[in-house]
Amino acid sequence: MAPKSAVKAVRGMRDLLPAEFGPWYFAEGLAREVATRFGYQEIRTPILEPIEIAERGAGESSDIVRKEMYRFQDLGDRWVVLRPEGTAPAVRAYFEGGLNQAAQPARLFMLAPMFRYDRPGKGRYRQHQQFSLEAIGDASPALDAEVIEVAHTWYVELGLKQISLHINSIGDPKCRPAYRDALLAYFRPLRDRLSADSQRRLEQNPLRILDSKEDAALREGAPRIADYLCAECRMAFAAVQDLLDSAGIEYQLDPYLVRGLDYYTRTTFEFRHESLGGAQNAIGGGGRYDGLAAELGYAETPGVGFGLGVDRTLEVLAAEGIQVESPPAAELLVLPADPELEAAAAAIARKAREALPTAVDYSDRSLRAKMRAAGKSGARWAAIFNAAEAARRVVQLRDLASGDQREVGWDDLPRAIGE
Ligand code: HAM
Repeated sequence: MAPKSAVKAVRGMRDLLPAEFGPWYFAEGLAREVATRFGYQEIRTPILEPIEIAERGAGESSDIVRKEMYRFQDLGDRWVVLRPEGTAPAVRAYFEGGLNQAAQPARLFMLAPMFRYDRPGKGRYRQHQQFSLEAIGDASPALDAEVIEVAHTWYVELGLKQISLHINSIGDPKCRPAYRDALLAYFRPLRDRLSADSQRRLEQNPLRILDSKEDAALREGAPRIADYLCAECRMAFAAVQDLLDSAGIEYQLDPYLVRGLDYYTRTTFEFRHESLGGAQNAIGGGGRYDGLAAELGYAETPGVGFGLGVDRTLEVLAAEGIQVESPPAAELLVLPADPELEAAAAAIARKAREALPTAVDYSDRSLRAKMRAAGKSGARWAAIFNAAEAARRVVQLRDLASGDQREVGWDDLPRAIGE
């Protein structure tokens, strides 16, 4: 019979293996710790959402909805989507879970996978992990500064040095139409020189042309949003900057930072890292989304938050030479001389686990083969025993690095290895 072809992971998806977990535990543990320190609480929303969460959330003109959705019909013929981002689901959960009735704002965070059918490449995966955080139910610009400070604190405490923060305000539905018109008037005569993507954006959402790396040269000279902001938006943006200044957080004003999601109003921001070139240099981003709740069919409710890419952040951590050890496999291996001794082996392991991570070699290989495997495993100790020693409740405790060996009673094992 012909051998069956090996089943492989879906393209653009990847496994995380034990040796990679050190940085993940570090980054996600610190994310929980920092978010909690600022009074944010963890939520988990389903991976599967109704398709409207993306269409009315990220928006019809976003790349996410136009070409990156993992969407399909379930067995009940409902159109569903693998969650491409966390903000619209958080807003939905805020209302469905009654958090809108509790103290405001709701301060929420998530550590969760997001799915985008993007072209896989370095720093770009079809499943990526985000540390996302949202403050929902309060319009104060102080919250814009607060969420930026949470993100900044996480990056700094991870040890990153080469990050930069870019901020902008893209106005609100009152002042943005005039800016949109000014952009149309500027770009229409340049239409033939724009990329195909930007030509399409011209009528749908001309602000997104500013985002285009391909058309960066053409945008120089384009009208700037700062000249079109209404008084409220201008004051809010000034307040965000004042608060960042007093927090000692450096930033650059970037009049062309509009971001790829349709729901933003007022503040938008992005964290970038020097080591990442091109379009993938954003390690995190966010902004205010005061119109999103109404788009999803709920009462108008302000919100602000961020999504930080954990995969990319770990890549830049490595690029800055910051290494984090992964948790060890067992540090003590129990090696019964004969497979029949499994109950005694389990009892010895139970005792040893009071002091160190411990595993048992239950295979039926020879004791010599077990010793060889233990030597290669990276464990520090082996506890070797035969039937006679089991009857006396003792093991030969071997230091695998030095080769020293001595007899130790089961009850003394935690103390002997715990020193
Ligand atoms: P986003 O900019 O689409 O924002 O994604 C946030 C971050 O996720 C990016 O800066 C990037 O680091 C990472 N990321 C995005 N796509 C990929 C990918 N294909 N592979 C690896 N990493 C990726 C949002 O998702 C908004 N929900 C953020 C937000 C929260 N705004 C307000 N609240």
